[in-house]
Amino acid sequence: MGAGFALVTGGAAGIGRAVAERLAAGELRLVLWDRDEAALERAVAELGTDGRRVEGMVVDVAREEVVVAAMESCCQRLGPPRAVVNNAGIGLQRPLLSHTLDDFRRIFAVNLFGLFAVLREAARRLVAAGGGGRLVNLASVAGLRGSVGRAAYGASKAAVVNLTQVAAVELARHGIAVNAVAPGPVETPLVRVMHTPATRAAWLRHVPAGRYGEPGEVAEVVAWLATRAPHWLTGQVLAVDGGFAAGGLLFEVAGEEAGTALVAENGKERPEETP
Ligand SMILES: NC(=O)c1ccc[n+]([C@@H]2O[C@H](COP(=O)([O-])OP(=O)(O)OC[C@H]3O[C@@H](n4cnc5c(N)ncnc54)[C@H](O)[C@@H]3O)[C@@H](O)[C@H]2O)c1
Repeated sequence: MGAGFALVTGGAAGIGRAVAERLAAGELRLVLWDRDEAALERAVAELGTDGRRVEGMVVDVAREEVVVAAMESCCQRLGPPRAVVNNAGIGLQRPLLSHTLDDFRRIFAVNLFGLFAVLREAARRLVAAGGGGRLVNLASVAGLRGSVGRAAYGASKAAVVNLTQVAAVELARHGIAVNAVAPGPVETPLVRVMHTPATRAAWLRHVPAGRYGEPGEVAEVVAWLATRAPHWLTGQVLAVDGGFAAGGLLFEVAGEEAGTALVAENGKERPEETP
């Protein structure tokens, strides 16, 4: 059996592609799964230069039998999946009152059921092989906060958060760490389709950093969790979001109100000079 491999689902574009770039430089052979064959071929060609060992497989994570067969084929050739990034996901923006159950089924099929199938298949192999591993799931700040239009998407990501905790608890004794990363808005192909000018303006009002993230900023954290983080770090959800999830009362990021100081003492208010 081989030394094992690193796996990124949805590795052909966006955040997954940026994660793949970082893992391609690592010690483990890198396998990218994606359902977009053309994008996958491009990614493998670009990442596979410099003698790096990268391969792509056309896998739709929403198809359980395909996931099971693909995991079996990879493990037979390469050994256990020591680092798994469960990144493949799809989005939906639609008012709550217009959501259908089919919307939920479509989104959950990829974001939750597909992610679960990959996680379970990977974990089974790691438990059988011994020696531990690291699994990272892509959640979203939409799974931590109630965002307009995100009934199905947000619920799927909230489920990913809890699944991460359950998996972490059950797998910890096997030396398998399971964590989630919850990105805020990141400039990717998904966001270019989903975010209207009004959506963008709303995000920019609520992200303390005052900007969208770049795929590489999320990928740095994901790659660290997938390959180098201590196994003692498990069951956590790390928001990589320009401060969005930490936010409370927010003024315009660079607005005048934020610079105004007001002190309340014993029920009396007095304005204070800003130094
Ligand atoms: N971009 C953001 O702002 C943002 C924010 C929070 C969370 N996320 C999450 O991060 C992950 C990546 O998002 P992104 O913005 O890079 O998306 P993206 O659409 O830009 O890229 C996703 C990749 O996954 C692939 N994919 C989609 N469905 C698949 C399936 N069923 N099987 C295999 N591959 C599939 C696509 O072909 C594509 O290559 C998703 O889980 C998404 O929900 C993104």
